[in-house]
Amino acid sequence: MKLSVIILAAGEGTRLKSSTPKVLHEIGGKPLLLHVLETAFSLLPDKLCVVVGHKAGDIKARFAGSDILWAHQDNLLGTGDAVATALPHVGDATHVLVLCGDTPLVSSATLQTLVESASDDSISIVTADCEDPASYGRILRDASGDVTGIIEAKDASDEELVITEINSGIALFPVALLETFLPKLSQNNASGELYLTDVIGLAVEAGITVHGVQTNIEEEVLGINTKAQLAEAESIYQALQTEYWMAEGVTFRDPARFDVRGDLSIARDVTIDINVICEGDVEIGEGTTVGPNVVLHNTKLGKHVEIRGFCHIEGAEIQDGAIIGPFARVRPDTVVGDNARIGNFVEIKKSIIGAGSKVSHLSYVGDATLGQDVNIGAGTITCNYDGANKHQTVIEDNVFVGSNTALVAPINIGEGATLGAGSTISKDAPRGSLTVSRATQRTIANWARPSKEDKA
Ligand code: UD1
Ligand code: CA
Repeated sequence: MKLSVIILAAGEGTRLKSSTPKVLHEIGGKPLLLHVLETAFSLLPDKLCVVVGHKAGDIKARFAGSDILWAHQDNLLGTGDAVATALPHVGDATHVLVLCGDTPLVSSATLQTLVESASDDSISIVTADCEDPASYGRILRDASGDVTGIIEAKDASDEELVITEINSGIALFPVALLETFLPKLSQNNASGELYLTDVIGLAVEAGITVHGVQTNIEEEVLGINTKAQLAEAESIYQALQTEYWMAEGVTFRDPARFDVRGDLSIARDVTIDINVICEGDVEIGEGTTVGPNVVLHNTKLGKHVEIRGFCHIEGAEIQDGAIIGPFARVRPDTVVGDNARIGNFVEIKKSIIGAGSKVSHLSYVGDATLGQDVNIGAGTITCNYDGANKHQTVIEDNVFVGSNTALVAPINIGEGATLGAGSTISKDAPRGSLTVSRATQRTIANWARPSKEDKA
C-alpha cells in the first residue's frame, strides 16, 4: 500500500464568527491544522495535500516552507468536492487517508489502526460512540451490524438522529474507489453540497465493504465548529499534555492548572506549582522547581533552578542552580549564570548575569554584562537609554554595587571595584577601589524644624 494524505481545510468556519480561518484557530498555542499535520506526518505518507479555499493565502503563509502540497477549492461545494480537488495531487498512491483540518485531537495510534484495516477493495472509517451526537453525521448499520451508509444530521430522520455512533470525518479509501464514486455524488441534500460521506452508501450498494473503526476515546474525533468546542478541545489537549509529562516523572501540584502553548520538554524530578503557562519553546531541566503563577516563554531552565512565584520570563536561559523571583521579570536575550540570584521586583533585559552574581531587590539591569560574584545592591539601575540609543554597562567579576546606584551607560566597572551607595556613576570606575559620587553628608547644628504659626 502506498499512502497519501488529504487534509480538508477549505471551509470558513462560519460558526466560529471570526475573521481568522477556522484551521488557524489554536489549541495549545498551535493552529488546529498544525496538530493534524504533525499527526499526519507521523505516518510518513508519500504525499500530503491540504485543500484550501477560504483565506487560502493566510493558511499557506502560516505553513510556508513545509512539505505540503496545496489544492485550491474554488467553490466550497462540500467535502466530496474537496477530496476530488485534491486527488490529482496524491501522486501514485494506492490509498488516501482523509483527515479534517478541524479535528485536531485524533491520535497517530488510531490512524495506525485505520491504516492496518485497509485493503484494496474496502473503505475504513473512524467512528465513535457519542453521548451527544449533535450535528455529526450518523453511521447507518444493517441488522447484521455492517455499515451501510452515513446520514448527515441535517438530512437525518428522527429515528436516525437517535443513533449515537457518529462519523469522525476521518476515512481511508483506495484511490480507485474514490475515482469511481466521487463523480457519482449529487447535491441533492439539505446543504446542497457534494458530501464525501455519500461515497460510503454508494460503495456499499456496489458491494464494497466498509470497516467502521470505532475509537473508544470520544475526544479524538471532536470536530471544532464553535468557540465552545474550541475551548473543550483546549482543555482535553491540556489534560493529555499533563498526563504525558506525569508519566515522564513530572510533579504537578494541580495538573488542571497548567497550560502548554507550544513545544515543551521537561526532565525528571521537576515540580510545577499551579497556574504555570509555558509558551513557545520551553525546556525545563532536571530537579528544577517552578512556583505558582509563572509565565515561561521561549525559555530554557537548567538543572536545579528555582523559579519562585509570579515571575515572567521570556527569551531567557537560566542556568543550573539559579534562583529567580518571586516577582521577577526577565526579558529576551538574557542569560542568568549558574547559581546566580535574581530577586524580587527586578527586571533584567538583554543582559548576561555571571555565575554566582546577585541582583536581589528592586533593580533594572538592561544591556549589561555582569561577571561572576557581582553583588548589585537594592534599587540599582542601569541607565542604558539616552533617549535615542541604548548603551552597554560592563561590570567585571567581584564588583560590589551599593544600593540605589545609577550606572549611566556606556560604562565599565573594573574587577573588584566597590561603588558607594546612592552614587550616580557616569565615568568608568577603576578596579579594586571605592568609587562614590554622592554629595558629602553634613549636619547643621542648632537647626529647628518650623512650627505652626500661632493664628491668634
Ligand atoms: C463533516 C462530515 C460529518 C462528520 C463531521 C465530523 C460531511 C458531509 N460531513 O461534517 O459526517 O460527522 O465532519 O467532524 O463530510 N471542507 C472543505 N471544503 C468544503 C467543505 C468542507 O475543505 O467544500 C472542510 C472543512 O474546512 C472542514 C472539513 O471539510 O475542515 C469538514 O467540513 P465541515 O463543514 O466542518 O463538516 P461538518 O458539518 O462538520
Ligand atoms: Ca466540522
